Amino acid sequence: MKLIIINGPNLNLLGKREPELYGSKTFEDFFSQLQFKFREVQLEYFQSNIEGELIDKLQEVGFSYDGIILNAAAYTHTSVGLGDAVKAIDSPVVEVHISNIASREPFRHESHISAGARGVIFGFGLQGYELAVRSFL
Ligand code: DQA
Repeated sequence: MKLIIINGPNLNLLGKREPELYGSKTFEDFFSQLQFKFREVQLEYFQSNIEGELIDKLQEVGFSYDGIILNAAAYTHTSVGLGDAVKAIDSPVVEVHISNIASREPFRHESHISAGARGVIFGFGLQGYELAVRSFL
């Protein structure tokens, strides 16, 4: 099983960024633990702050990988292009958010990703990524 986690803008700052919302662990540390936990899964990670690079990555992996775990971060709420890319590819996408976006500002309640996603997980911190991996198993 080949899966990839794709993280959008500012998620490279996890651990330092608003820790009360996003926790104090870096994604790299969390990702190593996740890879160890799911040793039977070929699990990759990609992060970019650039919308077009995220679209390029979705197109690159989206016809061969078994699943994509996508936290498009702020682009979730703004990017028609990312939403279109999710609908254009074959691989199933699970949308993840670390925080409970429904309990935050109204602009975070809208997602351009959800309509094309297999499912959505939010509000469980980094554990959401683990739940997403499990959903593919
Ligand atoms: C986020 C929620 C988004 O609204 C925000 O812009 C992020 C992170 C989350 O994981 O909770 O950058 O996607």
